[in-house]
Amino acid sequence: MTVRIGFAGAGGVAVTHLVNLLRLQDAEVVAIHDVDADRIAGCVRRVNAQQDLGARSGDESRRLRPKAYTDYRAMIAEAGLNALYICTPPSVRGAIEMAAIEEDVALCVEKPIALRLDLAREIAAAIRERNLVSSVCYQVRYSEAVTDAHMALGTRPVAMGLGFMLGGVPSVPWWRVHSQSGGQIVEQATHAVDLMRAFMGEVVRVYGAGALRVHGEMPGFDIHDTGASVLHFANGAVGSLVNTSVLGGGSTAGFPTGVHLFAADYRIEVWGGTLKVVTPDKTDEFRYNASPMLALDTDFVDAVKRRDPARVRTSYGDALRTLAVTLALDESAQSGKVTEIPRV
Ligand SMILES: NC(=O)c1ccc[n+]([C@@H]2O[C@H](COP(=O)([O-])OP(=O)(O)OC[C@H]3O[C@@H](n4cnc5c(N)ncnc54)[C@H](O)[C@@H]3O)[C@@H](O)[C@H]2O)c1
Repeated sequence: MTVRIGFAGAGGVAVTHLVNLLRLQDAEVVAIHDVDADRIAGCVRRVNAQQDLGARSGDESRRLRPKAYTDYRAMIAEAGLNALYICTPPSVRGAIEMAAIEEDVALCVEKPIALRLDLAREIAAAIRERNLVSSVCYQVRYSEAVTDAHMALGTRPVAMGLGFMLGGVPSVPWWRVHSQSGGQIVEQATHAVDLMRAFMGEVVRVYGAGALRVHGEMPGFDIHDTGASVLHFANGAVGSLVNTSVLGGGSTAGFPTGVHLFAADYRIEVWGGTLKVVTPDKTDEFRYNASPMLALDTDFVDAVKRRDPARVRTSYGDALRTLAVTLALDESAQSGKVTEIPRV
């Protein structure tokens, strides 16, 4: 079976997925929806230009020839989709997913899955009811570094976890607007929160502090540009998350990234392409080249082909719990109060 795939949102991250999907024999991207037809044309051009470069260097190359839709309902009605990628900004979620679910179309959804918990709960329930395949793009979970970190850690209980998301302001205009991105923790540090959950289990309570210290003069910028938070895990472990978007260029050199885990006489630092394991006797460092996003796209297509929701590493229902934590962190940073994570 060839998996017939559609896209909603033809921006930066869509290009990454589309290039990956062209490498998969079992996948065919047949339709792309965006409210802006020029974005679809531009996205197809960018993907095919990358394919041409690959072909010149001797790689096998396929080209993207999707039908363009500015109306998602028409795409879902006409395109005969088995799967749909949701690559719209985080505030543009809900209606497209629900329309696809009604037609039993599997979903691969970019993080964060939504900016409201009630909306995400509704979508999660609809996916569960129809037993559809869903995947959420927490691609770090697919990295070889994370797989090896799980093996290295074994059954050692993690006493403490630290998450880092330290960088600059992404170029997409919606990112700096709270109502459109949810802020840096909800939109970006969500990767670190999700990975802490993968190693340390569920979070029950958080306390966050945030401030706007540098980017206050940037037009439209209404989110915190720095944050420091505390997380309490159900198993009694504690965690801490720091985030900032005040760095740029060379000032990001050498900063800590990803998630650091502390167990008795044992420390792990892990992110998409790197793993460091520190014991009293030695420090082992590993680097990995495989693309976690390609692994995620491959598993999603495979899961759709086999109609097996269990084949993905982060389902929509799982990502709902990460969303609940990040929304609580943001709420706490706004209110200054300790915030319990609601049950989802
Ligand atoms: N997993 C990752 O590492 C990763 C990396 C980058 C982005 N993302 C996520 O991917 C999503 C998109 O990010 P991006 O960087 O591609 O953004 P982008 O702004 O480059 O692209 C978004 C696209 O959605 C389109 N769009 C806007 N409103 C729409 C609507 N109502 N209907 C249909 N299309 C609409 C825009 O025209 C644009 O082409 C975000 O949720 C972001 O967090 C994830």
